Amino acid sequence: MHYPIIPRPNKLIERKGFFILNEETCVKTSQECTKFVSYLKELVETPTGFTIDINSRDKVENTIEFLLNKNLALEKEGYHLNITEDKIVIKARESVGLFYGMQTLRQLLPPEIESNSPIEDIEWKIPCVSIEDYPRFKWRGHMLDVCRHFFGVDVVKKTLNLMALQKLNVFHWHLTEDQGWRIEIKKYPKLTDIGSKRADTQLKHSRSRKFRGKPHGGFYTQEEIREIVEYAKKRFITVVPEIEIPGHSQAAIAAYPELTCFGDNFEVASTFGVKKIIYCPGKDEVFKFWKDVLTEVMNLFPSEVIHIGGDEVPKDRWQECPDCQKLIKEKNLKNEEDLQVYVTNTMASFLAENGRRLMGWNEILDEGLEPNAICHYWAHSEKEVLKHIKMGRDMVNSKNKFTYLNYGYKGMPLEKVYSFDPVLEGLEGEELKHVLGLETPLWTEWIPDQKTLEFQAFPRIMALAEISWTSKENRDYTSFFQRLQAFEKRLDYLKVNYANEEERNPSLIARIRKLIRGK
Ligand code: ACM
Ligand code: ZN
Repeated sequence: MHYPIIPRPNKLIERKGFFILNEETCVKTSQECTKFVSYLKELVETPTGFTIDINSRDKVENTIEFLLNKNLALEKEGYHLNITEDKIVIKARESVGLFYGMQTLRQLLPPEIESNSPIEDIEWKIPCVSIEDYPRFKWRGHMLDVCRHFFGVDVVKKTLNLMALQKLNVFHWHLTEDQGWRIEIKKYPKLTDIGSKRADTQLKHSRSRKFRGKPHGGFYTQEEIREIVEYAKKRFITVVPEIEIPGHSQAAIAAYPELTCFGDNFEVASTFGVKKIIYCPGKDEVFKFWKDVLTEVMNLFPSEVIHIGGDEVPKDRWQECPDCQKLIKEKNLKNEEDLQVYVTNTMASFLAENGRRLMGWNEILDEGLEPNAICHYWAHSEKEVLKHIKMGRDMVNSKNKFTYLNYGYKGMPLEKVYSFDPVLEGLEGEELKHVLGLETPLWTEWIPDQKTLEFQAFPRIMALAEISWTSKENRDYTSFFQRLQAFEKRLDYLKVNYANEEERNPSLIARIRKLIRGK
């Protein structure tokens, strides 16, 4: 495969010949683009052993040039990449475009370019080509659940690196759960002192009685979070934090029992499945707690969008709680469902006062929902989501049957994932603008280590990256399949534990067996 680029560029003209990167290759750029020189140096100097010189003024041949031009007729994130035998030119309107042009150039270099030690006896050939490229969607996200199992800073950084390679630009960080609170909050130290550790971990499935037999825990300090946010920013990735309100909150309640309806004591959950132990919105202190936490969160994360979860909120305790019932009466709410809408809208106003915007899973949907809230679609009523969009409101699509990377390959093979389209049927014209893009969630109930994490994600995340970037007309599974085969060597150098061909598209027999026996 001559041009094994993923996601597939939207316009590509094949050219004959090769540019050869060697000791004499030098980079030409203006002052504004110097950071790209360091990115390029970082990428090529170790594997090649060359020292890339900058701005040898008179040199015309054997150069790589970065050009920023605000007047280029290109989309915001778009770029031009022109490779001839004499020189390489990357042009864009904004820095982000130059960055993506560089990621494409990276993928045209031999896979050995990803090696973290010098490679001898190789010619660093880059096939000539002319590319004009831009994304289909502006929201190209990946979500990592670090609560069900904790993954440290190194895993997060590797994730961000691999996202940048695929031109993904939103890292949705799922930071709070029943099974663990993973973000340091200075005002409430017990959230991590108590809430970040659990006694044990359920194995196999959410009704199983099998346990691992040892405690599990971990959290990020605010310093580590700042480091990650900065690391992501350098890769043009926005980090969207998720703080679950009002459900999935048992770990916070284990730390501060006064946050739940009857002030009773619970442990950080060691089992999975939907929990009924949730925050009590009938208490003023709980709103104060949410606002305090989100204030620290906003100080750490510059993202305009803040995710407040909102999924899977069993209201059993609210029905029995005098404080919740009092608030329902006082605010003239219809019922407990309406109480969740009240909670969501109160948080949306609070975020808006601070220049931010609320996002939540599709359970937040309601006629009375604050119009600016972004719906994160994952399951249940597509009709309701369609209605939300038709009212001119925004949506990001993570339909579980196509995008949940934690699902097994037997039920969700690569080819099925590739067939996904985030635009719901029945949308047209202006409505299409409200589909901001897609996200690939990776929930980690049954994913205890990095090896499994990568196996679940790769290569399906690459299919979803292509769906989020490449226009529908330019998508083609046969082409993707071939490019992926050529890409595998690159993943090997990047030390990614991906599913191989047999594993990512299991046989029909294996899939039928799964349907019948459930495994
Ligand atoms: C979800 O999977 N509960 C959003
Ligand atoms: Zn209550």
